[in-house]
Amino acid sequence: MTQFNLNGRVTTVEVAPDTPLLWVLRDTLSLTGTKYGCGMALCGACTVHIDGAATRSCVTPIASVAGKKVTTIEAVGSTPAGHAVQSAWERLDVVQCGYCQSGQIMSAAALVAANKNPTDAQIDQAMAGNVCRCSTYHRIRAAIHEAAKSAA
Ligand code: FES
Ligand code: FES
Repeated sequence: MTQFNLNGRVTTVEVAPDTPLLWVLRDTLSLTGTKYGCGMALCGACTVHIDGAATRSCVTPIASVAGKKVTTIEAVGSTPAGHAVQSAWERLDVVQCGYCQSGQIMSAAALVAANKNPTDAQIDQAMAGNVCRCSTYHRIRAAIHEAAKSAA
């Protein structure tokens, strides 16, 4: 049994302790906004926040989040940085196919929460692990600048 805070609610799951958080979210808790891309921490599609830090849920055993605060794409919009990021994403029409975008938004929200005036280099560094096969990288960078300004 593992207990943690998920999107503001105390949540308890009965799964094997080495089950990846991604599958607990998607299969056990039916939160399918967090995506599976590679399962090996290579693409960023599965990014969530654990105690505010952008983390790859596909390689995070559920036992390691016991007592921690997990935020997913379903709730990140209720944080100031997450709201600013999602609004900028809409205004700049960032999304193409959308598959990578939950992870992109989670990484961007963690960056904007920590840095209200990121440079291009800081953005590129923070987002380097999030792959987009539609190559929306330029719009992502522009939207992060806009979100950081509105969150400042
Ligand atoms: S599915 Fe986790 S990084 Fe690709
Ligand atoms: S928007 Fe299609 S993979 Fe990123």
